[in-house]
Amino acid sequence: IRFAAGQASEPTYNYDEAKVGTYTLPDPLRMTNGKKVTTKGEWAKRRTELLQLFADNVYGQTPNQSVRLRFQTTHTEPNALGGKAIRKQVSIFFADYPKLQPIDVVLYVPKAAKKPSPVFLGLNFCGNHCITNESDVPLSTRWMTNAIGEVSVNSRATEKSRGMQARRWPLDTILARGYAVATAYYGDIEPDYPQGWQTGIRSVLGDTTKATNWGAIGAWAWGMSRMLDYLQTEPGIDSKRVIAFGHSRIGKAAAWAGAQDERFAAVVLNESGEGGAALARRWYGETVERINTSFPHWFCKQYKSYNKRVAELPIDQHELLALIAPRPLYVASADGDQWSDPKGEFLGAVGAEPIYRLYGKTGLGTTTFPAIDQPVGQTVRYHDRTGKHDVTNYDWEQYLRFADELVR
Ligand code: GCU
Repeated sequence: IRFAAGQASEPTYNYDEAKVGTYTLPDPLRMTNGKKVTTKGEWAKRRTELLQLFADNVYGQTPNQSVRLRFQTTHTEPNALGGKAIRKQVSIFFADYPKLQPIDVVLYVPKAAKKPSPVFLGLNFCGNHCITNESDVPLSTRWMTNAIGEVSVNSRATEKSRGMQARRWPLDTILARGYAVATAYYGDIEPDYPQGWQTGIRSVLGDTTKATNWGAIGAWAWGMSRMLDYLQTEPGIDSKRVIAFGHSRIGKAAAWAGAQDERFAAVVLNESGEGGAALARRWYGETVERINTSFPHWFCKQYKSYNKRVAELPIDQHELLALIAPRPLYVASADGDQWSDPKGEFLGAVGAEPIYRLYGKTGLGTTTFPAIDQPVGQTVRYHDRTGKHDVTNYDWEQYLRFADELVR
């Protein structure tokens, strides 16, 4: 997909390591009142404080009221993917908000599984029909960006988009390794444009008058948690082994979802970049100002106040990753995606190390940026692969090995 804004060719953006300059990162193990955190008990308090700081300054406040959900199975295909999977389509309806459209989930469970399966849970960019070539997965009827060209006409998907991103979701491989896959179109939660909130979950939850009202990334993260609510009712799924997965803007959402919702057993962030794993203070590739300008609906209003004073942010993104500790975390970059700042993503993961240590675990276990295509780390893993902004088989190979070793 080519997105209209935010592309890497901007001449005014820094791609020169020598020009990054110096910056001081906030210490994840220091409370706002200056007290040093040395125990897990103190970290629990700091964790709460950090969640609040991210809510107040970056993503906005996730409404904490519980919402009544109704899960409706609309279709079950017992012989999906050539008989290797059971495919279920389930709509998550909001009982209190009958006007809201549901989140339409598609779930693939390996048929050979003898017990409940661990699952990768991730949103998709262009509708459930675009992650598979199966002709009986209904075409999404929701708003869809026209930036995907002729595959979308008048902001609606056409048949041409079927299977368009199947390459990014190698279902056969993932299922053969014993993992289920659960996905939904991110636009079901909120269509990705500045006024999109008017037809999404933010039209009924939150408070638009507040500078700390949640943004679209917060809404997508919330939607991932609602999908997890559903998976907890699904007998074929091991809901203690749900891996939050996301690419790019959806990776930012996966990071925030994993930080807030400790039911996610592990988190995989594919090129999540600015507002994801990449340090905000590092002047390289996309900047806070640029992301807030190109995508004014993604973060809370308060975040914009840092456009020209990033150094004053009370947090940085390594602390978001720290909120995922001690759970397994994979941060992945692509060398051809300098806009996401691979080194900044790596340093984000490095910055979470002290919290993994507090739990007696090794996170990345290194501070040396690895060579291309050389995955590193232990409970936290990282790679910078050859190639462009994308999700590839190489990425999945690493994620499956990571999941085999740390989640199963
Ligand atoms: C733009 C944006 C990035 C984002 C990406 C994507 O490039 O600037 O922050 O990650 O789109 O979602 O693909």
